[in-house]
Amino acid sequence: MTRYGPDEYDVLIVGGGGAGLRAAIAVAETDPRLKVGVVSKVYPMRSHTVSAEGGSAGVIKSNDSIDEHIYDTISGGDWLCDQDAVEAFVNEAPKELLRMEHWGCPWSREPDGSVAVRSFGGMKNKRTWYAADKTGFHMLHTLFQTSLKYEPIRRYDEFFATTLLVDDGRCQGVVALEMATGRLHTIAARSVILCTGGFGKAFRFTTNANIKTGDGVALAYRAGVPLKDMEFVQYHPTGLPFTGILITEATRAEGGFLLNKEDYRYLQDYNLGKPAPQPVNRTMELGPRDRLSQAFEQERQKGRTIKGPYGDYVHLDLRHLGEQHINERLPMVRELCLKYEKIDPVTQCIPVRPVVHYTMGGIDVDINGATCVEGLYAAGEASCVSINGANRLGSNSLTELLVFGARAGRAAAEHAKQAKPFSAKLAALARDEEQRIEETFCKSGEGKTSGDSIASIRETLHHQMEAGAGIYRDEKSLQTAKETVLELQERAKALPLQDSSYTFNTELTAAMELRNLLELSSAIIESGLLRTESRGAHQRTDFPQRDDENYLKHSLAHRTEYGATPRIEYAPVTITKWPPKERVYG
Ligand code: FUM
Repeated sequence: MTRYGPDEYDVLIVGGGGAGLRAAIAVAETDPRLKVGVVSKVYPMRSHTVSAEGGSAGVIKSNDSIDEHIYDTISGGDWLCDQDAVEAFVNEAPKELLRMEHWGCPWSREPDGSVAVRSFGGMKNKRTWYAADKTGFHMLHTLFQTSLKYEPIRRYDEFFATTLLVDDGRCQGVVALEMATGRLHTIAARSVILCTGGFGKAFRFTTNANIKTGDGVALAYRAGVPLKDMEFVQYHPTGLPFTGILITEATRAEGGFLLNKEDYRYLQDYNLGKPAPQPVNRTMELGPRDRLSQAFEQERQKGRTIKGPYGDYVHLDLRHLGEQHINERLPMVRELCLKYEKIDPVTQCIPVRPVVHYTMGGIDVDINGATCVEGLYAAGEASCVSINGANRLGSNSLTELLVFGARAGRAAAEHAKQAKPFSAKLAALARDEEQRIEETFCKSGEGKTSGDSIASIRETLHHQMEAGAGIYRDEKSLQTAKETVLELQERAKALPLQDSSYTFNTELTAAMELRNLLELSSAIIESGLLRTESRGAHQRTDFPQRDDENYLKHSLAHRTEYGATPRIEYAPVTITKWPPKERVYG
């Protein structure tokens, strides 16, 4: 590996998905003189935002209100959301979505030409803007094409950030591996924004793309930033059983039913309301994701799910919607079913099961995306502001990446304008990083446990996280997962590589991703072990009640050292106008 650099930027963004591009545009709009860099391990249009389907929430119709969106979000998050952040989010949401319209996002329309909105899980009113069922694709295109307008934005596509450069208590850039050549680049920046997404790939069955390995979250964690609310991992109730591919909640918004093996709409037994007359389907199937995934698991335990080669599943029935409606509103769902399951939802039921979809926890940031390290910011799924609390509502995340991507961009720009000069030590820090990579990953054969491999460690991790920290957990399952992850971290301490080439050495990046996932898994498990209550997506069978007296607070996982248990501390939840209540649906 040869070191290059340093390149110098005012603001450097790591991650080229929705949050990263929105942040880049916000910096360029704040001050066109600022130099902006965007480092992304994939070409931006391959970022995971592209696979978001169902839509983006924001109040736009007269029969809806800002207050109701706030309340739905707070109650959906089981009162773990910071209410000042939710208020800012909901207020800024429609402005951001209209801005997307002006930048060319092709929102679906009502017959009268106004923006169309659909219902989404846990939301009382229709407020989810959509572009058929390819909303993320269109939003990402819109952001990407808009970013191209701005001269000062320079991209580093297929660059993998390996460490943050932190000196004098300030984040001053990154070291990044140019994947095409194996060269290491020192990229200095007055402000850095991490927008690398979540870490659903710690689990076996997930809607997440392979790239979602929490790289930016792990970078911040290693730089001393605590990770907030890591125990809250969202299962989406309708993924395809083997691939985990998302079958959007929009299928249920459009009127789809969930049926158990007796063809019974089992959700009517789970306090999610009674079946509504067709085509309106605002109850049951449109309950929040945590409750629907838990209902599936209870059906499974009662033996009322269907056995399949990749585990149990239930049926999602769209047949009554008709071919024309499916083609118009859910064309991608039909395409995915035909391609990946060889079934046609016009005439057949879709097999679905809960799969990990979203990590509510992440880098602890304030309402402007700032972390506790000067000059370091985060936005999007990588961060935890927190507007999602213990359970995110579907369609809030695409809006979140716009609102908080823009906020982080503006704050990082202001910081860059008054930042001190770069410290003299950056070159030495970059040399240390080169040495660390050589020692940890590149000494072929050394430290190798016979028969060990990235794939086998990863597979064990996937199984253990699913079994130990899945939809339901208890002390025993979490403890077993903890011990296994500690062992896996030991095995992954020195990962010898078979591939010694410099050109697209995906084995090297996979090894780094695996270590990132292992560190984050250990934070998920420890935060889950210590939260002895049930709230939102964190359901402890040994502590089935929500316990506001002891746990109406955010967990903060602090890294100790690689392969050691994190230290968990707590911080208060900001409650403004909405005191905790029971969460009621139906
Ligand atoms: O089901 C979906 O379309 C997912 C949307 C979301 O996670 O916000």
